[in-house]
Amino acid sequence: MLAIGKAQCTACVVAFLLQNVMPAANAEVMQAGYRAHRIFSKHNASRMSTHAQDTTRDFSTVEVLNLADTDSNLVAFRNSFSDGAHGYMASSVTGFVARFSLAGFNNVEVLNLTAADSDIQSCAGAFPAGTFGYVISRTGKVVRFSLLGFNSVDVINLATTDGDLNSMSFGFTDGSYGYAISTNGKVARFSLSGLSNVEVLSLGQGYVGWFSGGFTDGTHGYLIPLSLNLAGRVVRFSLSGFNNVEALAVGVRSFNGGFTDGVHGYLVPWYEDGGPHSGKVVRFSLSGFNNVEILDLETWDSGLRGFGGGFTDGTYGYVVPYHQFSKVVRFPLSGFNTIEVLSLADEDGELRGCYGGFTDGIYGYVNPYYKNRELFGVGY
Ligand SMILES: *[C@@H]1O[C@H](CO)[C@@H](O)[C@H](O)[C@H]1NC(C)=O
Ligand SMILES: *[C@@H]1O[C@H](CO)[C@@H](O)[C@H](O)[C@H]1NC(C)=O
Repeated sequence: MLAIGKAQCTACVVAFLLQNVMPAANAEVMQAGYRAHRIFSKHNASRMSTHAQDTTRDFSTVEVLNLADTDSNLVAFRNSFSDGAHGYMASSVTGFVARFSLAGFNNVEVLNLTAADSDIQSCAGAFPAGTFGYVISRTGKVVRFSLLGFNSVDVINLATTDGDLNSMSFGFTDGSYGYAISTNGKVARFSLSGLSNVEVLSLGQGYVGWFSGGFTDGTHGYLIPLSLNLAGRVVRFSLSGFNNVEALAVGVRSFNGGFTDGVHGYLVPWYEDGGPHSGKVVRFSLSGFNNVEILDLETWDSGLRGFGGGFTDGTYGYVVPYHQFSKVVRFPLSGFNTIEVLSLADEDGELRGCYGGFTDGIYGYVNPYYKNRELFGVGY
């Protein structure tokens, strides 16, 4: 099969090994996968820990799967998730969703959401719940499809409930509701059972703009500020009453998504005052919605800035290189004081400009977003 040359790497998903512990059963799968389907090579991750510790975790083996080899519409992914067996990535420009087997890092399948509604071309958010996958479109449509057959698409239009729900920035779930955030300063939620009961929470005048991501700890929903006018304020609201909007100014201006480990919220650095492309990872306490701490990645390397999305494996937090950047950084959640760096461009010069990703506990997966460092026609 296909060796992925540099010029062919149109939409390469990157998977990197989190740790060097492979169950024996999986080792064979990996070997078979190597022959048939994988670019599989090792290279040296640069370890930049201030404490020389934890040499058992690999964070180095990189594999690449070019989704665009299966269908040229499988490009430009900002949103992805896993159901344990498959990885799913939803395009920000074509309305196509890809899924692939996690076990083999192969078997790419395609779902064309525009067949259900031509308005669903740009995915703003995507998440799984039960046996369904959900996509929130930029235009305010909620799309639900079966994870079992990777088919059966249903659509509702949030904007029929409130006209301000026609410009969405992302979405997430608490397991009972889906939440979709509008750039017009409103949050919508809908019941997952039946794709119904749309409710709207108005955040207020000061919160019109782009929130780049969010998450829930089961008690609150948290929204992460991207637009500069949001002034670095993280917003949270109560899930039980779908009310009580609070804000926390974290002192850094702009973030590209974030994640939680259940104790802290983590914010992925994008811009800050006084210069583009921040390297400051921020975390705050969820229980008190306070105690802001900063891990400035540029302290280690001035190139460690401008990230897009991230995730956690429960031990480390990972931030994904956006725009022209190519270095994945991870830091231990326990200390929040050291880092390790994996340069994807060392593997293949095309592997840069990613956005977000997920982990299956063994590998980290990074969404391919830019091609040749140019965006697929998305203006943000
Ligand atoms: C990579 O690691 C190997 C084994 O530890 C070492 O011999 C080699 O010099 C390293 N290469 C680079 C470029 O650092
Ligand atoms: C996706 O579905 C739409 C509607 O059926 C169709 O017009 C379009 O050609 C499909 N795209 C591809 C690439 O198959």
